[in-house]
Amino acid sequence: VFHLRINGEDRQFDAPASSQRATTLLQLLRNDCGLNGPKYGCGLGQCGACTVLVDGVAARACTMPAHRLDGREITTLEGLGSRQRPHPVQSAFIKAQAAQCGYCLNGMIMTTAALLRRNAQPTEAEIRAELSGNLCRCGTHLEILQAVHLAAT
Ligand code: FES
Repeated sequence: VFHLRINGEDRQFDAPASSQRATTLLQLLRNDCGLNGPKYGCGLGQCGACTVLVDGVAARACTMPAHRLDGREITTLEGLGSRQRPHPVQSAFIKAQAAQCGYCLNGMIMTTAALLRRNAQPTEAEIRAELSGNLCRCGTHLEILQAVHLAAT
């Protein structure tokens, strides 16, 4: 058995019988918790679509065996804000109309939220460096950068 605190709620899960059959954090969040904020993009830790916060730090859920996170605090997009009360980063992304298809945005928002939590006034270079691991195949990176600047003001 292992425990996670997910979006403020304590949850208990069965540990895998062997590490080869370990469920990833992304599978656990989407399949067992019904949290579809984190997206499945590459499954290889390379695109950022699955980004969540682990103890407030941006992390790739697709490559993390869930049972190894015993006792940690996980925040998904659903835990960041809601339709009624969006997080300031979510509001900024809406205001900047940063989405085209939108598939990458949840990961972008989580990465941005983590960045602004530890650095409220990041430079352009810091923003670009932080988001360099979050890929947008539509190519709306300029609007996304605008959204991050908006969120940081
Ligand atoms: Fe996790 Fe691409 S789905 S980094």
